[in-house]
Amino acid sequence: MTIKEALQFGASYLAEHQLRSPREDAELLVASILQCERSFLYTYPEEQLSSGRQRLFHQWLTRRGQHYPLQYLRGKQEFYGREFLVRPGVFIPRPETELLLEAALELLGQSLEKELQIADVGTGSGCVAVTLACEEPRARVAAIDISSAALQAARQNAEFHRCQGQIRFYEGAALHPLKAQQQRLHLVISNPPYVSTLDRESIDLAVSRYEPDEAVFSGKSGHEMYLELFRQGGEVLRPEGKLIVESGWGEAASVTRLAEENGWFLEETRKDLAGTDRCAIFGVRGETKSFF
Ligand SMILES: C[S@@+](CC[C@H](N)C(=O)[O-])C[C@H]1O[C@@H](n2cnc3c(N)ncnc32)[C@H](O)[C@@H]1O
Repeated sequence: MTIKEALQFGASYLAEHQLRSPREDAELLVASILQCERSFLYTYPEEQLSSGRQRLFHQWLTRRGQHYPLQYLRGKQEFYGREFLVRPGVFIPRPETELLLEAALELLGQSLEKELQIADVGTGSGCVAVTLACEEPRARVAAIDISSAALQAARQNAEFHRCQGQIRFYEGAALHPLKAQQQRLHLVISNPPYVSTLDRESIDLAVSRYEPDEAVFSGKSGHEMYLELFRQGGEVLRPEGKLIVESGWGEAASVTRLAEENGWFLEETRKDLAGTDRCAIFGVRGETKSFF
């Protein structure tokens, strides 16, 4: 089987199985198996796949046909220009979460302090914590998650990107692991689970079947973890500190209402490429808007 044949076969197999981007998926599978760039596939379409690689291609194609995430097959996902190891049990980083990073880095950039204390709540693969540490050398990040599988991956990612010295890892719920700590934080950032358990049937199969439930669902309201953050955030932040959260499609208004009911004020929202409010920056009510 040549590269060209593999791509044609793979794309039509995946189209039959209702994958949204069959051609792109087939290209990524073949490129991963050959450990090459996608451009190589078009430069050398007549190159033969060895029998071992053909076998692996068919195995991966079957899995992908069952909507198994491509990122778990490839073992990685890019986020903010860096590669992150992902595997089953660990949430796959999404491009919309990069909005939170941009907002956080802008805020942190305004500070003149030597060290900036941050909590990344629900760190998952560690993509947020690691990116903050790599992009902002003054960042000292507490990376928290209830999942030990997630924390293990986050540690590996921090080591891979050589920023483990800036990150401490905590297994626990929301901000509980930091409650006894004296030092107050400049920033709390979180992409929490935010899907209602009542919506399980209506979300993407690849997510509901294969990504960890605790990373996706947050009670019937979908707001349980927000509530924890809004109730506990004020106790660990400096008075002028900020809380940055991601929200789901069409959820920004209800998340803001919940925040306001718990003593926060909305400073700014940011939209994703589809024009949906995804990122909200909150301050503690009654405090100055200037950062630090
Ligand atoms: C949507 S994922 C986000 C992961 C990563 N920050 C990202 O943006 O790709 C949510 C993460 O929160 C963790 N989580 C769920 N409930 C939690 C809780 N109560 N306290 C801390 N972490 C929690 C999950 O295990 C999961 O890793």
